Amino acid sequence: MKEVNSENRLNRILGPVALTSLGVGAIIGTGIFVLIGVAAHDKAGPAVTLSFAVAGLACIFAALCYAEFASMVPVAGSAYTYAYATLGELMAWIIGWDLILEYGVASATVAHGWSKYFQDFIGIFGLGVPALFANAPFDFDLSSGRLSSTGAWFDLPAVLITFLVTVVLVKGIRESANFNAGMVILKVGIVLLVIILGAMYVQPANWIPFAPYGFSGFSVFGHTVLGQAGPGGAPVGVLAGAAMIFFAYIGFDSISTHAEEAKNPQRDIPIALIGSLVVCTILYIAVAAVITGMVPYDKISIDAPVSNAFKQVGIGWAQLVISLGAITGITSVLLVMMLSQPRIFLAMARDGLLPKSFFGAIHEKFRTPWKSTILTGLFVALLGGLLPLRLLAELVNIGTLFAFVVVCTAVLIMRKTHPEADRPFRAPLVPFVPVAGILTCLMLMFSLPVENWIRLFGWLFIGIVIYFFYGRKHSSLNTFKS
Ligand code: ALA
Repeated sequence: MKEVNSENRLNRILGPVALTSLGVGAIIGTGIFVLIGVAAHDKAGPAVTLSFAVAGLACIFAALCYAEFASMVPVAGSAYTYAYATLGELMAWIIGWDLILEYGVASATVAHGWSKYFQDFIGIFGLGVPALFANAPFDFDLSSGRLSSTGAWFDLPAVLITFLVTVVLVKGIRESANFNAGMVILKVGIVLLVIILGAMYVQPANWIPFAPYGFSGFSVFGHTVLGQAGPGGAPVGVLAGAAMIFFAYIGFDSISTHAEEAKNPQRDIPIALIGSLVVCTILYIAVAAVITGMVPYDKISIDAPVSNAFKQVGIGWAQLVISLGAITGITSVLLVMMLSQPRIFLAMARDGLLPKSFFGAIHEKFRTPWKSTILTGLFVALLGGLLPLRLLAELVNIGTLFAFVVVCTAVLIMRKTHPEADRPFRAPLVPFVPVAGILTCLMLMFSLPVENWIRLFGWLFIGIVIYFFYGRKHSSLNTFKS
């Protein structure tokens, strides 16, 4: 808290509406416009509506815990800062490192989703990106679940949009927040159009069978425990679908990374966190019901499922409007995600865990963490250009679920160790809410294909090595001790 009043802070300019809008801006994007296709087609069928409900529930438990922390520690840094304040430096570093999966890798995933709709959109006019630059060099083969070559070199539209967003972000948060607000209005309008217009084309027969892959889908390190195994042994069913479309909810917690730029963080951050999540859950369930009602689940497109459903029922103008709306909507997600990553680096640099001269540098004129924003842009462009969407999305999901588990655990620990601390917002029904958050998030982690656990452990291992070679020696805590 003392740190908040020191110099070199960010500007406090965001109110509750701007914050909720940043939340919605971060939430509705590639998940609902793109990943719903794979989830319905390969994982859950029409029961993907239930998958959205399960994933939404897990997020609501986690959001209540995030809100308690965000009101107690209203500085930039999100889960990283909460872990730093409660679980100590090593655990905080692990979470900060893990959050790169959530924000950095998620940005790459989102840039990919943007590219799919961009190509869908220009395709309406008979245009196309040259095949060599239209995709990542390899992708998942749907029948085997294994990676196969696409013949492309890299995904050019994904790289270009990343560069554009980086430029906007270096220029400053006020411009970014305004830009975002306009895009959010348009995006929610498009989602409402999908629901209302699509509802007229629903054929209830398409909802049968409702759960062709079953209602579960849970495996422990590659051994299916509940439900069926799909291609490559990965679990399928409602839970497996939830683990995939969990991606659609990621971003609500990014509101807490703006605590330092909020005018009244104690009140407004919890409102924005929970408000944006509830709005999106309702919209998602409605969109999922409409899309699976318009098109048989096995005919749903994998690349641009929402606009393509309207093409399949013969409303060409809606395809055009929706793909344009999706492009805009996904841009605003990319904006918020790429806005959050440098702010987490900033928090880590302030604690000495990353080089301050680079990650802590704030631009004199723009007041933005410009160097790390540019680094984030390069990282996102590289990943977004080269790695396939599904691989990235699953990696992001497992990393984010892990962060949620830690935040829920930290709430429990903090209530025990510091019961007297001031909590302007208290998560209700403790210990039920944090424990339910931990269990539902773990359940979703076990509903992802097993390779993701290996990737998560690999990533965390690299992080721990960096900590022992850099962070531990340079940390502010270490400096105080010596
Ligand atoms: N929830 C965000 C999206 O779906 C990350 O694009």
